Amino acid sequence: MKILRTPRELREAVREARLRGESIGLVPTMGALHAGHVSLVQAAKRDRCWCIVTIFVNPTQFGPNEDFSRYPRDEAGDLARCDAAGADAVFLPEVADMYPPGSATVVSVRGLTDHLCGPARPGHFDGVATIVSKLFSLAQPDRAYFGEKDAQQLAVIRRFARDLDFPIEIVGCPTVREADGLAMSSRNRYLTPEARQRALTLSRALHAAEARFAAGEREVATLAAEIARILAEGRPTKIDYASIVDAETLQPVAGRIERRALVAVAVWFERTRLIDNVTLVP
Ligand code: PAJ
Repeated sequence: MKILRTPRELREAVREARLRGESIGLVPTMGALHAGHVSLVQAAKRDRCWCIVTIFVNPTQFGPNEDFSRYPRDEAGDLARCDAAGADAVFLPEVADMYPPGSATVVSVRGLTDHLCGPARPGHFDGVATIVSKLFSLAQPDRAYFGEKDAQQLAVIRRFARDLDFPIEIVGCPTVREADGLAMSSRNRYLTPEARQRALTLSRALHAAEARFAAGEREVATLAAEIARILAEGRPTKIDYASIVDAETLQPVAGRIERRALVAVAVWFERTRLIDNVTLVP
């Protein structure tokens, strides 16, 4: 497994892989890797890609009061996990390499960021879209792999990749969960054992909505009430949102669900914000 520390090293490694006739698969991450991240590497390897994992805690996607400085960092553990998962290269740039002084360009996706995490995290998706487009430009992958766990992020990436004509197939991968249903997240390690128990209400609420929908329930109000009831059982510190939105436009659905819909929640337990979602397909 190659360890690449600068954009120049990344470009050179990609050039060599291309000369060998490899397809390039890109897995962007912020490190603190878990089985969810590993599943993206495995998907890239199943597609026979030369798989590059990027590990970069991207400062521009964190708000001033968010957890940038305390975001978990574990380079040695991450490298071991990438190696075990079969990654071919890991790119670990410094902030100054990705954002040299004078960086002034931002990729901003309108509309898709009006709801869900957009209002709660101003500037977040601009930071994500900007860094991912830079990684796309540097690595020039054939395919790039992202988790459905971050459904709005995936929608934003699909949209800017299309709008900016990146010739890259964006591959969405299913959410990997702990045995008890909690969606895996680098932020789960912030939870106290007690809060972690309460956090099971996210997946339980979404699962209940899925079950009601499968049994024929189509009314947003009924499903939303069921979700709210179960989330309240976890005594959350705060609920940013529990929303049912159109899966394409990410605009709220009113009345009945007639098209593919995303049920998405963002809930705080003490200082930790967790998100989760499921898709309902009529
Ligand atoms: P990060 O939170 O490290 O996640 C990296 C990738 O792993 C994302 O595509 C995310 O959706 C996916 N992922 C996280 N948890 C998952 C789970 N439980 N199951 C499946 N996939 C999961 O998302 C980011 O980093 C950043 O915003 C990034 C795209 C790297 C840009 O900085």
